[in-house]
Amino acid sequence: MQRVLVSAPGKVNLALRVGGPRPDGFHPLDTVFEALDIFDDIDAQRADALSLEIIGLGEDLPVDGTNLAIRAAKALQEKTGTTAGAHITITKRIPVAGGMAGGSADAAGTLLALNELWELGLRMEELLQIGAELGSDVPFSLFGGVAHGRGRGEELEHVRVNSMHAWVLLTRPDGLSTPAVFREFDRLHPDAGGPADTVALRRALSDGTVDEVGALLANDLAVAARSLRPELGAAIDAIAAGGRHVILSGSGPTIAVLVTPEESQEVAAQLRADFPDTQVYIAHGPAAGAHIRTVE
Ligand code: C5P
Repeated sequence: MQRVLVSAPGKVNLALRVGGPRPDGFHPLDTVFEALDIFDDIDAQRADALSLEIIGLGEDLPVDGTNLAIRAAKALQEKTGTTAGAHITITKRIPVAGGMAGGSADAAGTLLALNELWELGLRMEELLQIGAELGSDVPFSLFGGVAHGRGRGEELEHVRVNSMHAWVLLTRPDGLSTPAVFREFDRLHPDAGGPADTVALRRALSDGTVDEVGALLANDLAVAARSLRPELGAAIDAIAAGGRHVILSGSGPTIAVLVTPEESQEVAAQLRADFPDTQVYIAHGPAAGAHIRTVE
């Protein structure tokens, strides 16, 4: 095998309930992820050494050992003892540092692509485990669909969903740092206990209407993100005042508006006019998890 091309999805959290920090510093979560049809492509070709190139969004991201995709490749080498190399080209479409797990998607896609390219034969279960060591959101990008996440987000179970969702996403070029948002959460909630549960939302996803799902969107990191970026709060409040179901995605700063597929173009046009300094995308979910597109 000379070349493997994989697509890996970004995500939005329909609910992100956060508890006070554990002894290891991570926060216990009760979350519901939805994979969206915004994919990064991970193109892995056989080579003597490991190297990375990024095209599309995020051209100034590091391509050395600090990039999560290279860390994923090294984790596979360590786990299996292979000395094979690869040249990895990532075409980025998931906004960078946007709260949509773009870096995690690249790591998930790299695990899947190199497992195939290097003919390692690891099972999905093993890839999920290696993914969890790389980052809390990496397993979900492999998983896809809609999933209930516990632990720090890596303990996953599929959630049955009775309808497709359209999302209008507002992203900003100036990303937010996830650790900084969690630190602000700790400062604002020094007495946080365990995370709230997401039972009602999961029930609505299986049996309810999109409006019922929309009414249950919740993100405990929103207060912290708004504290760091007051203009985010103003935008979310203005969209909610217009009667829309709106949520901050992950640790932000992407804002996600849940709409029906029929109204998505009209809502996107309105939001483009209202927020000219943001990029507005339309996405749909649930989308597939990381998957192999081409093998040569
Ligand atoms: O797991 P990941 O490396 O993506 O997490 C990035 C940072 O986000 C962590 O270093 C930590 O500061 C914070 N985090 C957390 N609790 C989680 C997930 C992430 O505190 N459940």
